[in-house]
Amino acid sequence: MSGSRLLIVDDDRTFRLSTAALLRQDGHEVAEAPDGQAAIETLAQERFDLILLDLRMPGLDGIGLVEVLRKWGHDTPILIISGYGTVDTAVDALHTGADDFLTKPVEPDVLSARVEELLERRPTRSKETEARRGGIIGRSPAIRSVLEIVERVAPTDATVLITGETGTGKELVARAIHDQSERAGGPFVAVNCASLAEGLLESELFGHTKGAFTGAVRQRKGLFEAGQGGTILLDEIGDVSAAVQHRLLRVLQERELTPVGAVRPVSVDVRVVAATNKDLRVEMEAGRFRDDLYYRLNVVRIELPPLRARKEDIPLLVEAFHDRVGRRPHAGCSPMAMRLLQAHTWPGNVRELFAALKSAHIRAGDRRIEAQHLPEEVRDSRADGPESDGSERYRRSEPVEDERTAIENALARYGGTRTDAARALGMSRTTLWRKMKEYGIDG
Ligand SMILES: Nc1ncnc2c1ncn2[C@@H]1O[C@H](COP(=O)(O)OP(=O)(O)OP(=O)(O)O)[C@@H](O)[C@H]1O
Ligand SMILES: [Mg+2]
Repeated sequence: MSGSRLLIVDDDRTFRLSTAALLRQDGHEVAEAPDGQAAIETLAQERFDLILLDLRMPGLDGIGLVEVLRKWGHDTPILIISGYGTVDTAVDALHTGADDFLTKPVEPDVLSARVEELLERRPTRSKETEARRGGIIGRSPAIRSVLEIVERVAPTDATVLITGETGTGKELVARAIHDQSERAGGPFVAVNCASLAEGLLESELFGHTKGAFTGAVRQRKGLFEAGQGGTILLDEIGDVSAAVQHRLLRVLQERELTPVGAVRPVSVDVRVVAATNKDLRVEMEAGRFRDDLYYRLNVVRIELPPLRARKEDIPLLVEAFHDRVGRRPHAGCSPMAMRLLQAHTWPGNVRELFAALKSAHIRAGDRRIEAQHLPEEVRDSRADGPESDGSERYRRSEPVEDERTAIENALARYGGTRTDAARALGMSRTTLWRKMKEYGIDG
């Protein structure tokens, strides 16, 4: 697969140069990073199809890098190329999430072949995963377990209760359950139970006869009947009235309903998925929610954790956003912007993240998204306090306060060599020069 983008991470400059030359001859685009930290910064803003990684490097070493990347949800394949005497470590790296390894010295033919092999393996893997996931993005343990439950319960007809804060993907998960069930060919009906006045919801859901109430000029079928053979999502189930709760219980118990004003029941074949951002147990204890209904709904429970509890999913969600809006393939985000995105607490969860990216995208246009393109509340998120994610390890070794400090640190580290500093910062030399002028840093 020529035309792929590869990243070589190795502190040995000669090795980097010769390997890059070889792989360019094979038709690939190649970038280089001299150590783990520089690699992270490059990866925060560009996408690669394969990473070639040395194990022994100063600072953040190869294994450390594999750990951080996998924790952050990067699924780019990693080929370890290690020196003599590091086979044990290479095996550790494979356990940590690397895909393959070669030992130095590497025959050019062997390297080319192995690279091709890994590149070819990837697209099928990700396409299959994509289809199975129903658009649910994330590699955090929490999301993995959600995906597992979805896969397990979708084919059954079990009632599912999905809980989670606003914007965590409850509706997305409900659709995934429907799409992966035998009912996929039938309708998926989503009802927001909170958006309709009490009486209206009742007749919307269950239908009514002609003359059932003032204004019921003719008979109407309800949404349950519209969902025959398919799935109904009862969103905001925590907000339904006692009357509706009573009717829902009947549907779940008897698989039949009686339209408002009717005497004879109609049988229904609809799978029920309910969602709420309320704690139904609290509602139940306060006497606002029937406990028998609660237990009928809570057959299978899927809890979606807030985004701040799974920050490692953020880079993947950002990447998915870039894909979706068709941003220039490698415009990406600056390392600083990515750090801010990971530091924010996201009260509106994934919906808020996508909205923030959308506005940043509009401001940045075709250029890379920089810190200043992000909404104010995201830019202020540094005040949110320390985080505990995979980035800590490298953050500790190199505390980066802001862009200015990052630039000063990089220049100091590379003895003022702008080319290397720019590469480590993931910016072009001209950008670095411009920013140095902006911040009044002299080389
Ligand atoms: N894990 C995810 N992967 C991809 N997109 C996601 C994910 N989670 C949420 N989204 C997206 O975020 C937005 C909000 O998701 P959704 O409507 O499912 O949230 P919700 O939990 O139903 O929110 P609310 O309680 O406000 O109704 C949608 O655009 C959805 O596609
Ligand atoms: Mg919703």
